[in-house]
Amino acid sequence: MNSLLDIKNLRVAYPEKRGKSHWAVNNVSLTLQPGEKLGLVGESGCGKSTLGRAAMRLLPKSVQVEGSITFGGEYIFGMNPSRLRKFRGEAVALVFQDPMTRLDPLMTIGDHCVETIQAHQPNISKSQAQQKSIETLEAVNIPASRWSQYPHEFSGGMRQRVAIALALLLDPKLIVADEPTTSLDVTIASQILGELTRLCQERQTSLLLISHDLAMVAEYCDRIAVMYGGEIVETGSIKQVLHNPQHEYTKSLFQAALHIQVVESTPAQIQPEKSELTEAPKILKPILQVKNLQKHYTLESNFIEQLLFSGKSKLIKAVDGVNLDLYPGK
Ligand SMILES: Nc1ncnc2c1ncn2[C@@H]1O[C@H](COP(=O)(O)OP(=O)(O)OP(=O)(O)O)[C@@H](O)[C@H]1O
Ligand SMILES: [Mg+2]
Repeated sequence: MNSLLDIKNLRVAYPEKRGKSHWAVNNVSLTLQPGEKLGLVGESGCGKSTLGRAAMRLLPKSVQVEGSITFGGEYIFGMNPSRLRKFRGEAVALVFQDPMTRLDPLMTIGDHCVETIQAHQPNISKSQAQQKSIETLEAVNIPASRWSQYPHEFSGGMRQRVAIALALLLDPKLIVADEPTTSLDVTIASQILGELTRLCQERQTSLLLISHDLAMVAEYCDRIAVMYGGEIVETGSIKQVLHNPQHEYTKSLFQAALHIQVVESTPAQIQPEKSELTEAPKILKPILQVKNLQKHYTLESNFIEQLLFSGKSKLIKAVDGVNLDLYPGK
């Protein structure tokens, strides 16, 4: 089978580091098959994002690049600006760690979707673009009733799902997701990665998932590449690498992940503090007290929604009857 992405002996140096002959990416060779999900892991600063950006030709001109990258057999450093514009978005899409780097605060979610489609497919009608957008948003669990809202009206997890929907809109062959869930809590992160990998599977889209979370990569990818100091030090199937890690860095990464799991699986026990047992009970007043807090948002229906959803306003119960006491020093 021909590889979808083929990176050969890639080296990248940022200008200010050139003098010290420091390669942020050093002699990296990597392939990705159609439909394959590859996890790229490694410590902070080892060159993961640089490699991901190089694969989309998103590095600034001042950066020194050596080696070759082909996508579907086409040499990406040889693409002219119009070919490059089609390549980014239609062939390869990028999901960033912070979705606000992709979202415009002054545009509704619906407009983001329609603009993305029309920029690449100018002949498509607005209603077709809307239809496709609603389907894609629903695929990432963003209900169509949110169409006319702005990014600030979404939670962090929902913004990231919108960013994923925008990446999926043009049916790219490869998605490069650079730490897409690092800023989210574990439960939401796992839901979002679950959705992303399921959609990739259904559409036979390849995924390059950049992460420092070995457990996530092990759960959602087929293959893993471990990067250290700009180099790929180990690559193989998840099973191979996890059961028989070869490189010292992979072993330490694995140990750290195991340690975290052991700590997490210890049942939580709340012991009364010594002072609480021996001292006479003091009547402490909470420093912060929240009583039956409610925050409900109403989604006003606009013209499009009236057409699409027969004009029903919707209530979102963001906070619904929360009680909380916080005592001094606790
Ligand atoms: N625009 C830039 N200009 C100069 N140096 C850069 C630039 N971007 C990255 N670097 C350097 O390249 C090296 C690799 O950075 P990179 O962002 O690829 O790391 P990373 O593996 O993605 O780290 P993290 O997990 O923290 O995101 C680092 O030494 C970094 O300082
Ligand atoms: Mg990075």
